[in-house]
Amino acid sequence: MHVLVIGATGGTGNALVRDLLRRGHAVRAMIRDRGQADALVGLGATPVEGDLEGELAGVVDGVDAVAFCAGSGSTTGPDATLRVDLHGAVRVIDECVAADVPRLVMLSSMRADDPLRGPERLRHYLAAMHARDRILIGSGLAATIVRPGRLLHDPGTGRVRTGVPRLEERGEIPREDVAAVMATCLEDDRSIGATFELLSGETPVADAVAALGQHG
Ligand SMILES: NC(=O)c1ccc[n+]([C@@H]2O[C@H](COP(=O)([O-])OP(=O)(O)OC[C@H]3O[C@@H](n4cnc5c(N)ncnc54)[C@H](OP(=O)(O)O)[C@@H]3O)[C@@H](O)[C@H]2O)c1
Repeated sequence: MHVLVIGATGGTGNALVRDLLRRGHAVRAMIRDRGQADALVGLGATPVEGDLEGELAGVVDGVDAVAFCAGSGSTTGPDATLRVDLHGAVRVIDECVAADVPRLVMLSSMRADDPLRGPERLRHYLAAMHARDRILIGSGLAATIVRPGRLLHDPGTGRVRTGVPRLEERGEIPREDVAAVMATCLEDDRSIGATFELLSGETPVADAVAALGQHG
């Protein structure tokens, strides 16, 4: 499979680039700055320049799937959340529809189903996630929406817990495990149409993703 990873220089996105390459997929990695290219070439990915606030023309052309792992970060404020996390993601969805890219796996966030469940300082961000997830669901793309809890830099464990559509408890998960779930979703069509929350747990990733099909 040929996959475009958006956010390929970020924590989760870079883990996903590595994971997909290990599984034998071809990876196109979107970068904003040419100085980021060498590290991705060194991994075996093909960099492509693009900016969620700028030029996106052609970045999705010819791939089988897009994995969206980008984000403006927690310190940039509501305006960047709207420009990058909401509008940038919606532009990617539109590009996929226009270019006949059928498949999109979206990294969203726990509590995006109900932004008022979240702490006040995160509500604008969760509302943006909520809106873009709904736009993706309505787009006609074969979508999977992954909503993890707090992301950790710890090594992956390969074991997770999913909640369809939600988990009641809060928690954490290593970025490597989120990446493994996203890669497995791309390989397992039973995840198409699923929206789920994700934390560290006891279930092997492949089994957790396979079980998503039972909720369809
Ligand atoms: N942190 C958490 O606890 C948490 C919990 C649940 C969900 N999430 C979601 O997970 C996402 C990924 O988190 P992370 O910590 O793995 O990411 P990260 O390390 O913050 O990386 C963000 C990525 O987005 C890219 N990006 C930012 N603005 C962009 C733009 N205008 N155009 C193109 N790319 C742009 C960055 O590129 P550059 O290298 O060029 O800056 C980088 O590759 C978050 O954005 C959030 O939506 C986070």
